[in-house]
This record gives sequence, C-alpha cells and structure tokens, in this order.
Amino acid sequence: MEDVQAYIESNKENFKAELFELLRIPSISTSSAHRQEVRKAANFLFEQLESLNLDQVTLFETDGNPIVYGELTTNPSKPTVLVYGHYDVQPPDPEALWETPPFEPTVRNGDIYARGASDDKGQSFTHLKALESYIRSGTDFPVNIKFIYEGEEEIGSPHLVPFIEEHRELLACDMVLISDTAMFAEDTPSITYGLRGLTYMEVEVTGPNRDLHSGVYGGAVENPAIALSNMIAQLIDEEGRIAIPGFYDNVKPLTDKEREAYKKLPFDEKEYKEELGLKALDGEKGYSTLERASARPTLDVNGLWSGYQGEGAKTVLPSKAAAKISMRLVPNQDPKEIARLFNDHIKSIAPETVTVEVTEHHGGHPSITDLSFYGLKAAAKAFEEIYAKEPLFTREGGSIPIVADFQRVLGAQSILMGFGLNSDAIHSPNEKFALKDFYRGIQTSAKFFEVLPEYG
Ligand code: BES
Ligand code: MN
Ligand code: MN
Repeated sequence: MEDVQAYIESNKENFKAELFELLRIPSISTSSAHRQEVRKAANFLFEQLESLNLDQVTLFETDGNPIVYGELTTNPSKPTVLVYGHYDVQPPDPEALWETPPFEPTVRNGDIYARGASDDKGQSFTHLKALESYIRSGTDFPVNIKFIYEGEEEIGSPHLVPFIEEHRELLACDMVLISDTAMFAEDTPSITYGLRGLTYMEVEVTGPNRDLHSGVYGGAVENPAIALSNMIAQLIDEEGRIAIPGFYDNVKPLTDKEREAYKKLPFDEKEYKEELGLKALDGEKGYSTLERASARPTLDVNGLWSGYQGEGAKTVLPSKAAAKISMRLVPNQDPKEIARLFNDHIKSIAPETVTVEVTEHHGGHPSITDLSFYGLKAAAKAFEEIYAKEPLFTREGGSIPIVADFQRVLGAQSILMGFGLNSDAIHSPNEKFALKDFYRGIQTSAKFFEVLPEYG
C-alpha cells in the first residue's frame, strides 16, 4: 500500500492538471447549445478510463448525453464497488459575479475556483485517480470496481434511470460509492446517510386575457399576481408546516436516537446566520435548524414572476403570474404522490376569478443508507486514517435521486463520501473545491478500497 499513497503524493500536480482539463469543458446539461461540450467531458472521462487498461470501458449512447462505463474484475469473491459521478454542471450564471471565469479553473488561497470544481467533477474524479494510483504503481487492486459517469444529473437523470433498469447485470454490485455531497465542516469528514427527495412544480395563474391599465380596470378585476401570492401564502401555516392535505402522511418521524445524534453535531447557529447575512432563521416549529434543513420536508418558491419588471414604473394589471415551487421530501414520501396532492390543493384554493395551470418538472425519491451497512464502516475507517478524525454520520438536505434507484433496481446501498463543503458555493457564482480535499479525497478513496475486504 505504501506504493499507492506514494504514487498519489508524487502525482498531485498531474492530477490537478488533468482535473483542470475537465473543468475547462463547459458541460452544461440544461443548455442544448452545450450538447457538444457535454460530450467532450464524456469523452475525456472515457479516455481517462481507457488509459488504465481495464477489462471493459464503454461510452454508452442514450437519447440524451452519453453514459461512461468502465469495469475491472480482480477476484469475484471480493466485493464489487460501483462508483457513480456526474460530469455535467449547472449553468454558471450570473456570470458577472464570478471573480475569475467559470471555465478557467484558478487556484486562490488553496481553493480551485471553477463551475463543477466541487459539484461534481472534482469530487468524482478522486475515485478515478485512486484506481489509477493502484494500477500505475503496480499494486493489485483490492476489490472489483465499476465506474458509471452520467451527464444528466443536474436535469434529473432522465436517461440513467432506464439505463440501470436495462443493465442490471452489468451494474450488479455490492455497494455504490458516491462523492457528491459535503463534509459537515472544514476538516470534519462526514458520511452522509440520508438525502432528501424532490417534487418540482410550476404554477401559472391567468386572469384577464391581456395586460390591463391598472387605473381603468384595477379594483374590478382580480390581479393574478395577488391571487398567486395569496395562494402561495396559504401553503405554509403559522407553525411553519406545509398546509397541503396529506403532505405529511408518509413522513417517517425522526427517532429519539436520531434527534440525540443531531444534538451532538458541532453546529454553531450564530455562525450559520452570520455566514448567510441573516438576522434570524425560520422553519418548522419544534425542530432544530439542522433537522429542518435535512430531515424534514420543506416547500420553497424558486422563482416568481408577473407584470412589469423593467426600469421605472408602468401601471399595469398583469394577465398572468407564475411560480416555480419545489418541495424537498423525506422517507417515505413519494414524489409523484406529492405532485398529485400539490396539484389538487393549489387548484382547490384558487379563487374563481382566475384559471390555474400546473405542470410537473423532474423530481426524485429520498434515500437513507442503513447505518449498520459494512461499507459505511470501511468508509469510516478510511476517513479516520487520512483525516486523522472519526467521521460524523449526517443527513443532508440536497438530492441525488439516483441513489434511491440504485437501491430499488440494484438492491445496492450507497456510501456518500463527500469531500466538498457547504461553503463551496455549488450552483452559485465562484464555486470552489479545496485543493487539499481533492488530494485527501484521492487518498481516502484509495484507503477505502484497501480496507474494504476486511469488512465485507
Ligand atoms: N450534488 C448535488 C446534490 C447535493 C448537494 C447533495 C449538496 C448533498 C449536498 C446534486 O448535483 C444536485 O444539485 N441535485 C439537485 C437535484 C437534481 C434532481 C437536479 C438538487 O439537490 O437540487
Ligand atoms: Mn452533484
Ligand atoms: Mn448539483
């Protein structure tokens, strides 16, 4: 094993240079104009895997972006790990707020700044570099490994879900290893054992058949912006609970043990507020900030528009108002069922003066990894060796819907070994990833593969 860690140590500059090459590719999956760039990122990973002389490396075409696959079988009696990552990224906008261009990776104060640095190019590249370190140092790889990189995570993995259903045998594994989450805090390794699910809706409210003069018609005609605002305001009650009938029916309550564990996490609420520039926090009564942001379901308005938004004032009574509304879900809520409840409820509270159209965007199931799963113990050991600290076990509020599909289709639990930080500004301007965590990520991954056979 000396050799593997020594190889990592002496190849840090190469690893960084290769990651930078990947980060320079603007693989924005939501933008059809970037289709070729997305493919370039897939090709880059394909070539990376191919250079390692694995048993099989394939670029699978889909009706969307390619799926990059690679596998190495060393010994069928050893555990098989499926590494999952995504090479697509979110759009960089608003671009004017970036201190350095989003697709020109730059290191400042030990952090790599680039779109995708943390989510998820930098994080998911660690496992590929760990495998390379075994192979190039001439060290036998301790387990069997499969890689699957997709290019549509940020748009809801529409083609990966059918792909795993059609390739159950190819993807058969004992566990899934994913680095696409965050550590609880700097130098505080964490294993995420719970992720929230998602239901994402759009609501369009229409009043009069055209924008009207607000002086001529105001007072006699319902204003759709006000109607929609009233409807939205009714979605959350005074206790901070979501007022959609049936919404909580399948929510699995937190156990006393879980709530005790939450209390022990090293969380500073004052610092949290200050970091966000807030005077006060808000949320569901009876739950702590950490519980609210990771283990309880929520409802948010992601976008809201109506009427005149240009410079100066225009007196207008708008014809339409619309909102994008998302709900984060926890076990055992079902995203489709929640979409149905939302649709029925929002229509039922609309005044008769307007018409309401509801559409559903992509969503996903919540997930929980069983804390007694042996893979988590091996991951904890690896973190302990590299970070010289026992990892925390945490739940996070973000969503990686494919985790639930891996569980359902392949019967495989996921190990969420995050190397990022919540302050990485993923999806925001100036996304970053600490260079030292990129390297420690590679080391931790290599260590994980080394110790895993002792636990399985
Ligand atoms: N890597 C994130 C999910 C994440 C972020 C998990 C932080 C835990 C902590 C992922 O790329 C993502 O952004 N997911 C989307 C959902 C998807 C269906 C678009 C999300 O959570 O909004
Ligand atoms: Mn991600
Ligand atoms: Mn993301």
